Amino acid sequence: MSNLSKLNALMCGTGEYTTGWTGSGASKSDKKIGVVGLTLFDLRRLGKVDKLSMVGVSGGKYPAIRQHLQDNIAGAYKDMDISFDAYPEEGKTDPLAYKTAIDKLSAGDAVIIFTPDNTHYDIAMYAMERGMHVLVTKPAVQTLTHHNELIAAAKKHNVVCFVEHHKRFDPVYSDAKARAQTLGEFNFFSAWMSQPKSQLETFRAWAGKDSDISYYLSSHHIDICCWMLQDKAVPTRVVASAATGIATGEPYNCVPQTEDTITLLVDWQSLKSPRHKGTAVYTASWTAPLKAGIHSAQHFYYMGEKGDINVDQAHRGYDVTVDDTGKAWYNPFYMKYSPSESGHFDGQRGYGYISIEKFVDAARSVNAGETTPQDYDTHGLPSIANTVLTTAILHAGRISLDEKRPVGIKQSGDQWILE
Ligand SMILES: NC(=O)c1ccc[n+]([C@@H]2O[C@H](COP(=O)([O-])OP(=O)(O)OC[C@H]3O[C@@H](n4cnc5c(N)ncnc54)[C@H](O)[C@@H]3O)[C@@H](O)[C@H]2O)c1
Repeated sequence: MSNLSKLNALMCGTGEYTTGWTGSGASKSDKKIGVVGLTLFDLRRLGKVDKLSMVGVSGGKYPAIRQHLQDNIAGAYKDMDISFDAYPEEGKTDPLAYKTAIDKLSAGDAVIIFTPDNTHYDIAMYAMERGMHVLVTKPAVQTLTHHNELIAAAKKHNVVCFVEHHKRFDPVYSDAKARAQTLGEFNFFSAWMSQPKSQLETFRAWAGKDSDISYYLSSHHIDICCWMLQDKAVPTRVVASAATGIATGEPYNCVPQTEDTITLLVDWQSLKSPRHKGTAVYTASWTAPLKAGIHSAQHFYYMGEKGDINVDQAHRGYDVTVDDTGKAWYNPFYMKYSPSESGHFDGQRGYGYISIEKFVDAARSVNAGETTPQDYDTHGLPSIANTVLTTAILHAGRISLDEKRPVGIKQSGDQWILE
């Protein structure tokens, strides 16, 4: 008989991924009602989660957010309790409100971070130092030093810290990972991921200033590649190249340093055979065409010694054409928003949902003393310790662009460093 208790969770960030509500109204992307809030409300219905809270920067947004959740979640699915405590309180603006919100929690509660990339480190550290389990969205942090510090903090405070790399739970990607293990030495990996130019409007507040498209999108496939190559090969050198000129022109007018499309070229060294070296190319763009029928283009190619793998995750043999809007390819494998036959939320098998549920399960299991946080490092889950090379590559790519030089990645003692 298990003695798991329900988990209390604080959602940090009240934006597109948490609620589906963006600064300019309801999101027009494929996440109209968000992912995190919806998943946690459903997990509460199913008895895994108890008290929920949310923290953003301006309390003034909550009336609109609550109305949006009432209309599109409570009003759309049966038995959804969408209540949550909100910080900062209405009428107040406070970028440090996360501290007040975290101070209200108890050790063993959870903090789920979907805020701009450059705020992840401070929030995650504050939470772990107080004994909370942390789920932080990708990119976990922007520097390798910060990543190493989060690994150490999770260990010291004995808490679960996962990076929300949901593609690891995509049935195609996880099957591809298993098949890659049978293809011998690694030779070549190439990934393309893009979103339409219109996202530059959605991301106006931070695009090019606080983060770049490589951190934002290539983080997905870099993590998948690192996961496929875990214990097989390690990255040794990164050279980056960027295309520019679209984001900084009309009508987007992003800050002058904004890149459109970033490519990282990465050398990999086999761990078993000194002779075998591989190459990976990770490209991401936020200036892809409008009206392409997809929100995110995403495919990768993997070649090993004995075979190859091709995945096109944007076109899955399922398209819908509507007179007014034309043809569109949907991905219900990620988030399925259509209700079940009983009128309840029905997306529990989507990998966006599973990714959050795995974290909730791990935190509850650790709280009950059934497992330890370190157990999850051996399970192939995206724990903070298991994702260090993803940050090493992304950070090396940023340095390569800024300093126009190749950047080495190597191990020094038990830590990864850049040179
Ligand atoms: N939208 C997506 O599809 C998606 C998918 C996967 C991961 N992510 C990641 O989620 C993060 C946020 O993404 P989003 O799309 O929801 O962005 P968003 O711009 O819609 O929302 C960001 C939210 O963070 C809040 N915020 C900013 N600074 C804060 C602080 N100091 N304390 C508390 N809250 C703060 C803002 O108020 C806003 O509510 C990014 O790291 C992004 O890479 C987004």
